[in-house]
Amino acid sequence: MAPRQARAYGTLDSQVESNIHRLKRDAQATIACENNLKFMRALPDESMNLIVTSPPYNIGKEYEKRTSQEKYVEDQAACIAEAVRLLSPTGSICWQVGNHVDSGEIFPLDIILYPLFKHHGLQLRNRIVWTFGHGLHCQKRFSGRHETILWFTKSDDYTFNLDPIRIPSKYPNKKHFKGPNKGELSSNPLGKNPSDVWDIPNVKSNHVEKTDHPCQFPIGLVERLVLALTNEGESVLDPYLGVGSSAIAALKHNRNAYGCDLDQGYIDIAWDRIHQLRAGTLRTRPMNKPVYDPDAK
Ligand SMILES: C[S@@+](CC[C@H](N)C(=O)[O-])C[C@H]1O[C@@H](n2cnc3c(N)ncnc32)[C@H](O)[C@@H]1O
Repeated sequence: MAPRQARAYGTLDSQVESNIHRLKRDAQATIACENNLKFMRALPDESMNLIVTSPPYNIGKEYEKRTSQEKYVEDQAACIAEAVRLLSPTGSICWQVGNHVDSGEIFPLDIILYPLFKHHGLQLRNRIVWTFGHGLHCQKRFSGRHETILWFTKSDDYTFNLDPIRIPSKYPNKKHFKGPNKGELSSNPLGKNPSDVWDIPNVKSNHVEKTDHPCQFPIGLVERLVLALTNEGESVLDPYLGVGSSAIAALKHNRNAYGCDLDQGYIDIAWDRIHQLRAGTLRTRPMNKPVYDPDAK
């Protein structure tokens, strides 16, 4: 090969290589296509401030193999044990789950998994009900339109920042009508506590965040947890990362993101989304945007 050609090939190869690295590297993100036990075992004790995730529900989705209830709980127990080891003393674990379904009978996974967290002495702070408008239309039971988030802490001394996640008060101009504060505004001008019932659209086909993943988190749901339960510069882990919604929520607010998934296709999409976030082109649904109401005037 002539030296000129060799140089030309050399340039092309290193360009391609550096593009690949650019797409799969970020100073604040540590993401891998790996089994979560392997990924977590390589991380130091008490290094994570928030562990937020949605595991498979053992219902035969494209990314999981249906197994017995016993084996499913055993696998969850192993992952939860690692999560507890990684959790900082002031940190939080948020396990977002719905129902396992077998022959038409439902098995709420928060009820089934709660004892696994209590086994490690964690304390439940909220059981957040996440409601949404879309899903299967059931014929022999009421259509499911909520899932839950179990929020546990490791100690009584835990981070909880209310101000960044306040939502507009219903009556912001309401005033005290008697007593020493008579005539003054009775509600916090920064807004109110969003409560433990969150109405956030799930990511279905026409959602701005939809990717090829069948069950992704809305980023706004994780943002609320990241802002309330961590501080800037702290670390957030999702051991069932999917297409990286938790990582995006963490990076958006200047936290470090850690995560893994078994599926290389999902991990590639996660990197692509991180790259778009950094370029300012990622479309996300604003965290507190009210749910569309066709009857609203
Ligand atoms: C419910 S999805 C999570 C989706 C994610 N919240 C998102 O927004 O994209 C569960 C994910 O766990 C992954 N998964 C299942 N078992 C795993 C394991 N042992 N280690 C790592 N990832 C796993 C699946 O590939 C799937 O993408």
